[in-house]
Amino acid sequence: MRRPVIAGNWKMYKAIGEAVEFVEQLRPLVAQCLHCDVVVAPPFTALAAVNAAARGSNIAVSAQNCHWDQEGAHTGDVSPQMLVDAGCSYVIIGHSERRHDHGETDDQVNRKVKAALAAGLVPIVCVGETLAEREDRNTRGVLHRQFRGGSAGLTAAEFSRIIVAYEPCWAIGTGRTASPEMASESHACLRQLASECFGRVVASGLRILYGGSVKPENIGGLMAQEEIDGALVGGASLKVDSFSAIVNYPRGMEAGASTS
Ligand code: PGA
Repeated sequence: MRRPVIAGNWKMYKAIGEAVEFVEQLRPLVAQCLHCDVVVAPPFTALAAVNAAARGSNIAVSAQNCHWDQEGAHTGDVSPQMLVDAGCSYVIIGHSERRHDHGETDDQVNRKVKAALAAGLVPIVCVGETLAEREDRNTRGVLHRQFRGGSAGLTAAEFSRIIVAYEPCWAIGTGRTASPEMASESHACLRQLASECFGRVVASGLRILYGGSVKPENIGGLMAQEEIDGALVGGASLKVDSFSAIVNYPRGMEAGASTS
């Protein structure tokens, strides 16, 4: 059984005080949560404070990006080691907003993944097609390119430490969610790719999160899909009520749950 992950991607929201207040309010609401890993990804400026506020809880901290070097002349960048120093255990890599806003390439994603793994972080590697690519029936081609590019050169042992997030760009921040079946089809395609590159056993342990307008109202249907191992949540992760409702999604209907 793959352990689900619910991760909140705060993007460029929340000053330090707001971020700490959020974690203080979230702690008791997820304290009983044994069914999944809970992760929040604040902006860089709030990472250390959020980590201090989350200490001793079951809330883990993620960054939203990193550089591929350990240190160097890279103005404005932050290294994986610096993220570990700030208390992070995860880092989101290759989010579509970074690919679009900053022209991040699959090769850069790959270098970041390797650097994050070397620093001991769990990379959450994002892939997903644009609306035009889906309408051109090119979703599989895009997933192939991004998956193979992002994971190139990893050993099976390294790959087994990463998480993949399938985030169709047309569903991000639009209120338009992929149907559970549509998401599931892409997840199955990604697992097949993982199997071809790293073997069936490693692929069956890969956690693949869905991202794109996840809300308390649709998380149950998504998590009921055997192929969906959690969610990367943007907008709905900014409010404690909606994020805790997503973390505590209705269970009993997930794949593999005992029916006896
Ligand atoms: P959204 O963002 O939930 O606001 O659609 C998801 C993401 O970009 O990770």
